[in-house]
Amino acid sequence: MNKIVLSIIGLGLIAGCTVADDLEQRTTESAAVAKEFMMTLKGELQTAMQEGGPVNAIQVCNTRAPSIAADFSEKKGWTVARTSLKYRNPDNAPDAWERQVLEQFEERKAKGEDPKQLSYTEVIENGGVKSYRFMKAIPTGAVCLACHGEKIDATVESKIQELYPEDQARGYSEGDIRGAFTITQPM
Ligand code: HEC
Repeated sequence: MNKIVLSIIGLGLIAGCTVADDLEQRTTESAAVAKEFMMTLKGELQTAMQEGGPVNAIQVCNTRAPSIAADFSEKKGWTVARTSLKYRNPDNAPDAWERQVLEQFEERKAKGEDPKQLSYTEVIENGGVKSYRFMKAIPTGAVCLACHGEKIDATVESKIQELYPEDQARGYSEGDIRGAFTITQPM
């Protein structure tokens, strides 16, 4: 009897650990993808800025960012994207869950947390279907200000205006949370 009970407890513990391991692995992999996304984009952005200034670099964000996101999504079988409370591209608008997390990031930053370290994960159940969701804050750096800062060069401004007539992604300062990477993994 006792042996059976112990085995059941044992199996339960193993199952519990496996679930925790699985979530930990999902988080590790999501963080790695977010990091690679950031590095790729920053690299291409810096090269384009050096070659032709911010006007030239707009196309990196305009076409490369969505295509890098699409490549990761396809490779992993996840949804990988960027979002923000004040977005430039309406395609990047947050859904209700993402909005809550972005607001939570702002609160945590206001309480002193480092924006570079802000991330959040949750298992969401929607209509009986579970998915794992991950978000990681994207801080505003000095390079970002040419296109997201207070003072934007007139040529850059008019190009942005032409591509994104409803742009809200301006007026940021260094250290602000510009937005976040957002990943959804099916479970
Ligand atoms: C050369 C101009 C330029 C620079 C520099 C730039 N961005 Fe952007 N950013 C854009 C454009 C254009 C978009 C819209 C991309 C799209 O259509 O998805 C954008 C979109 C974004 C988004 C997605 C949310 C949204 O607003 O639509 C984030 C997050 C973001 N940028 C962060 C940054 C960060 C962080 C930096 C600095 C490391 C940076 N950007 C530098 C032009 C720029």
